Amino acid sequence: MEIIKSTAEMIQWSANSRAEAKTIALVPTMGFFHEGHLSLMRRAAKVADRVVVSLFVNPTQFAPGEDLGSYPRSFELDAARAQGVGVTALFCPDPDEMYPPGFRTTVAVAEITKKLCGKSRPHHFSGVTTVVNKLFNLVQPNFAIFGEKDFQQLAVIRRMVADLHMPVEIMGHAIVREKDGLAMSSRNSYLNEEERRQALCLWRSLQEARQHVLAGERGCAKIEKIVHDVINNHGHCHIDYIEIIDKDTLESSARIDSDVILALAVRIGKTRLIDNGRLLHGEDNA
Ligand code: PAJ
Repeated sequence: MEIIKSTAEMIQWSANSRAEAKTIALVPTMGFFHEGHLSLMRRAAKVADRVVVSLFVNPTQFAPGEDLGSYPRSFELDAARAQGVGVTALFCPDPDEMYPPGFRTTVAVAEITKKLCGKSRPHHFSGVTTVVNKLFNLVQPNFAIFGEKDFQQLAVIRRMVADLHMPVEIMGHAIVREKDGLAMSSRNSYLNEEERRQALCLWRSLQEARQHVLAGERGCAKIEKIVHDVINNHGHCHIDYIEIIDKDTLESSARIDSDVILALAVRIGKTRLIDNGRLLHGEDNA
């Protein structure tokens, strides 16, 4: 596996791959890999000749006071894990390489970035779309793979790619969970033992909602209330949002059908966790 640190080297590597008629799949990440990240990489290795994983804790998607400084990092272990699942190149630039002095350009998607996570993180998605745009330009991938755990991020990237006619195929990948149902996340490492127990309220409330839908309930307001109660009965969890929405437009739904998902953001202590899932088929959104 090649380790690439400079943007110039990344552009050259990509040009060489195209000259050799090799297809490229990109998996953008911020590192501290878990099985969720690794399953995206395995999928990438199946769809393309070469897999590029970017490992970059992107400063522009964090607001002042968020966890940029404390975001977990473990480069050596990440590199070994990426190599173990067949990654061809690990692109890990320094912040100055990605945002040199004088940087002034931002790519922003309107409207759907203002809902859900965008309400409490108003500048987050423009940081994401800007860095993903830069990564697409540097790597020029045929495919890019994103997790459905961050379903709003996936919807925003699909919107950007369609709106700007970007020649890349976006693939969504199902949520990977711990044995007890907690969606894997690099931020789970912030949780102490008690918080880890409380964090199960996201998965439990999703399951409870599915049971009521299975029993015939179709009213979104009723299901949202049930989810609310499960989380509030679970200890010191602060609800950021509970919404049942159309999976593509992210518009609120009144009735449950196969196109809607339940989306949750909950703060456990200082850690903000998100989760989501379909209600009607009782499975993740794959
Ligand atoms: P990060 O949080 O490191 O996630 C990298 C990719 O892994 C994202 O596409 C995310 O949705 C996916 N992922 C995380 N946990 C997952 C899980 N439990 N199951 C399946 N997929 C999972 O998302 C980012 O980084 C950044 O915003 C990024 C896109 C790299 C831009 O900086």
